[in-house]
Amino acid sequence: MVNVAILGFGTVGSGVAEVLTKNNAHIGEKVHNAVNLKYILDVREFPDSPFADKFVKDFSVIENDPEVQIVVETIGGARVAKDFTERSLRAGKSVVTSNKELVATCGYDLIELAKEKNVSYLFEASVGGGIPIIRPLSQCLAANELTEICGILNGTTNYILTRMIRSGISFEAALAEAQAKGYAEADPTADVEGHDACRKICILSSLAFGRHIYPDQVPTEGITAVTLADVAYAEGAGRKIKLLGRAIRRSDGRVCAYVAPHLVEGENPLAGVEDVFNAITVKGDAIGDVMFYGRGAGKLPTASAVVADVMDAAKHLGSRKYLEWGPGGADVTASPDELESRWYVRAQVGAEAAKALFPEASFLARPGASEGESAFLTAAMKRPELEEKLRGTQVLSLFRVL
Ligand code: HSE
Repeated sequence: MVNVAILGFGTVGSGVAEVLTKNNAHIGEKVHNAVNLKYILDVREFPDSPFADKFVKDFSVIENDPEVQIVVETIGGARVAKDFTERSLRAGKSVVTSNKELVATCGYDLIELAKEKNVSYLFEASVGGGIPIIRPLSQCLAANELTEICGILNGTTNYILTRMIRSGISFEAALAEAQAKGYAEADPTADVEGHDACRKICILSSLAFGRHIYPDQVPTEGITAVTLADVAYAEGAGRKIKLLGRAIRRSDGRVCAYVAPHLVEGENPLAGVEDVFNAITVKGDAIGDVMFYGRGAGKLPTASAVVADVMDAAKHLGSRKYLEWGPGGADVTASPDELESRWYVRAQVGAEAAKALFPEASFLARPGASEGESAFLTAAMKRPELEEKLRGTQVLSLFRVL
């Protein structure tokens, strides 16, 4: 029998308990061993839970129980979760997590610790919720030289943007709906300011390009600056506004990674990804383009990925599942200012003056536009060149075009 402990009985942790229990027979058959949920750690009381007899409040009960071979960390954050993860690994237990903040900030060190102890540290659920992406990147696409990853990596912001685009409802109302559906982080700032997507692109690009990329190396913008006026201009141009995480490997090996809203061309498959769905496109020298699509947040989709990792860890007891990358460093990344693209600009500037500054731009229209407001798509250029041209102009919105 394989014994499992879950740390944190929030949205994901309770989903993991539910899936492990509901599908227990079939999970046991696939693992060729019974998988038993032995403990759930949480500081709160859950007297009415069907798992009430499994709750403990003291982590050392789990740490010191040699029968527990797999620990599921669904606490979130990078403080207590880090301490408990390190102690679990040191105690010779494999750890499975959905915690993107911890993997993005400490992944390299935790993977090294897991290697030292010959146990697994698995985090399929940390990116894309229920979408398989970590395993495909590390295994199925392993033969490729990967050059680019681009994706809609946050379900909450995609839900908000979809509701703003389709129904014209406010940002605040759409956020409240996403929270009610259990998509948002405990503090939704991480979603709407792009930090959650940033952590996810860090994990994907570390895995794809082989060195740890830390969140502070990834310039990040969220969606709080996106207005209904931008949504209307984008619609008029046959495009959708999407928050994208991108990482592009340059020919010198450095990686340009960033998170920002983009105006995505209607024909790009990412433009059709709506609601809580996430999609990740990966470019490799042998495969060309491949896209992964599915539910990027929510209790059961995320639990599906966590439990699959538990099963993989259970199959590899006594050995280690290979999932790793090298150390980070200042030489790993390059500024996205190096990347040329077309730009969407909305500015308080008359049409004639805007045309004089950007003679090659395509100008956009929307009903009800205010006097003196112009919106246009520029020719391809780097950001410093764009900013130079816009010096002295009151810019209202500025997004890359894809
Ligand atoms: N808050 C995250 C999202 C949850 O909305 O995508 C899944 O990581």
